Amino acid sequence: MVKVLIGFMGSGKSTIASLLSAKSRDMDLILAEEFGMSVSNFFDQHGEEAFRSCETRLLASLISSEDWLASGGGLIEKEDNRYLLKQAEEVVYLMSDFDTLYQRLKNDRQNDRPLFKNHSKTDLENLFQRRKRLYQDVATLTLDTRGKTPEEIAEEIRQKIDR
Ligand code: S3P
Repeated sequence: MVKVLIGFMGSGKSTIASLLSAKSRDMDLILAEEFGMSVSNFFDQHGEEAFRSCETRLLASLISSEDWLASGGGLIEKEDNRYLLKQAEEVVYLMSDFDTLYQRLKNDRQNDRPLFKNHSKTDLENLFQRRKRLYQDVATLTLDTRGKTPEEIAEEIRQKIDR
């Protein structure tokens, strides 16, 4: 079964998945390729609901694959996805605090995240507070990533579950 990295935008899911395995997959990248456009443009043209349906379909198709998967930060929103995640081999929550994540998102020059563009800081913080519980509830491992490099985080995951 698949091993999934979950967490809010900016928590390092894609970077860490690629450190954990050269064969790791990234849901946003797969979807953007399928859409033939960026996730942000897809949101603009088809809306969030359509994006969420595509995420669910993709997660269901990858659930029995045998490698690491970087998910999108909003995957946790849908009950169907939370149900699917219960079947995963591991679900690792990359935990941080809102201010750290917000600074990282602000400093990311390639940041093309629709929710970051369309939400105020307060709205994003509310979203973070609401999702935090959902991430914790489905996680088989919660890892505090604060003050750690991506390499250190990947090493900690390897020690805890990949060995
Ligand atoms: C989203 C997070 C994004 C992407 C989309 C929606 C969210 O992924 O799936 O923009 O709802 O938090 P990252 O967590 O990789 O930024």
